[in-house]
Amino acid sequence: MRFRPAALLFGGVACLLSLVALPAEHTDGQSAIASAHPAATSAGFEILAQGGNAFDAAIAVSATLAVVEPMGSGLGGGGFWLLHRASDGYQIMLDGREKAPAAASRTMYLDKQGKVIEGLSLNGALAAAIPGLPAALVHLAEKYGKLPLRQSLQPAIRAAEDGFAVYPRYQQLLEFRKPHLNNAAQKIFLGKDNAIPAIGTVIKQVDLAATLRRLAIAQRDGFYKGETAKKLLNAITQAGGIWTQADLDDYRVIERPPVTGNYRGARIVSAALPSSGGIVLVEILNILSGFDLDVLTPVQRKQKILEAMRLAYRDRAVHLGDSDFIQVDQAHLTSMKYADLLRTNIGSKATPSDFLSESPVQEGQDTSHFSVIDNAGNRVSATLSINYPFGSGMVAAGTGIILNDEMDDFSVSPGVENAHGLIGSSANAIEGGKRPLSSMTPTFIEKDDSVLVIGTPGGSRIITMVLIAALDYLHNTGEISDWLARGRYHHQYYPDIVQFEADALSEDEQAELSTMGYVLKARDRKYGNMQAVLLNTRDGSLQAASDPRWLGHAEVRPVTAKLPDESLEYIKTGTD
Ligand code: GLY
Repeated sequence: MRFRPAALLFGGVACLLSLVALPAEHTDGQSAIASAHPAATSAGFEILAQGGNAFDAAIAVSATLAVVEPMGSGLGGGGFWLLHRASDGYQIMLDGREKAPAAASRTMYLDKQGKVIEGLSLNGALAAAIPGLPAALVHLAEKYGKLPLRQSLQPAIRAAEDGFAVYPRYQQLLEFRKPHLNNAAQKIFLGKDNAIPAIGTVIKQVDLAATLRRLAIAQRDGFYKGETAKKLLNAITQAGGIWTQADLDDYRVIERPPVTGNYRGARIVSAALPSSGGIVLVEILNILSGFDLDVLTPVQRKQKILEAMRLAYRDRAVHLGDSDFIQVDQAHLTSMKYADLLRTNIGSKATPSDFLSESPVQEGQDTSHFSVIDNAGNRVSATLSINYPFGSGMVAAGTGIILNDEMDDFSVSPGVENAHGLIGSSANAIEGGKRPLSSMTPTFIEKDDSVLVIGTPGGSRIITMVLIAALDYLHNTGEISDWLARGRYHHQYYPDIVQFEADALSEDEQAELSTMGYVLKARDRKYGNMQAVLLNTRDGSLQAASDPRWLGHAEVRPVTAKLPDESLEYIKTGTD
């Protein structure tokens, strides 16, 4: 395997870098990282340069995103890390999804009449589930990394102390969630007189730096016990939440076999439950494999894809939830036999969702994704979340931690839409200790000659975004930057509409789809923030790309691994 020229993309502008060819086994080979923020991508490369592998880099990227993209993910949230270990080909998904506190119940968001109390599962302390991200970072370091956690967390600690400069996406999402920020969050994220800070304003997070340092020093106990835990529990209890120390003690990362499938000879490896991502993605691809998409007109092709989306999202709504709590027949849902049956529902027109048996599902500008391949071929595809932008809007005073509002990803009441417009059934009903159903879809697609590591944020539309990019890759259409730039369209069973970015469907296509019976709803803004890296397994060349819609940074770099410098002052002080 040889490393060859690679593409560098920054802020949507592609620049080509010519790099010297190196033998793959050489420790100075190239690595690729694509993330939602330049500082997070740099943090990953910094750790690779210190002798870390892709898993150490993933810790650095995850923790730095928690600092510089506070609306998307963080220590108060969770995520899924899909791993590929090059030495033995081992593939696993780390489930660091948040889980409901033990006292959670099906009626916790309902009033005396059984009606959903608006906003309760979305804003404030009661919306927050027990965070999994800190435990997942500890797990990654202990089991898969080469460097100590305290070293891999150093770039994030520095970023929290030095601050990050306000950028447009931060402003936009802050404006959206401003009415729901508590005092502690306002102090950190807003400017003078609680105004949205101007572009370039530096946001420093000293409490978050101290929290990260406690995690670095005492590992799991630095978050789930001691000072951080005390502050979290105080803040949550005072604000009417129901967390206990036992909930924090009980939190565990779970290793789960990824969902796998095949499409046109390629192997799909994706997220397992409690994310619906892998099952829904594989189900859609199975359905589509029965059509020859290459011979269809663009609009016929889109019609088949929309119907396949509808059918798979119907199954999401009806059958999927935390498989530690409910029985899910994953083998059946992802089988070709079942796809063959589903395909018989698809004609050349829209099949109204009301005509399908059973009901429910929906969106987002929240969450974050990054993709890494290191010079040894280790891979990470990770999608992280605190759910809605800025999560529940609540920072636990003295910690800098924004609490998630992942409880809203449960079906709070049958048939009631969540913030992403998704509906659900008892499979995803609230229960103490259960993990809410997710749509996060960190994915590897392995072809004969290449491997794509891909994912995106975007609530319920995550799966269809990954699908649309994957279809381009699987059908050899365009190149990596085209796959991420492609206009996006989406159907999720209910609401029975086609959501689309303005440039995703031409006027003629819109007219034709309307004639076929589709209700079309153009979104007023673009969505998603896809991050991908691509390895050519024939010649070892790497490419990386960030979604051109936002400020992400993707880069391929030669990494000269150095031994860790023991003189580096990783940790200054700690109190736990
Ligand atoms: N909170 C978004 C998701 O997990 O799908």
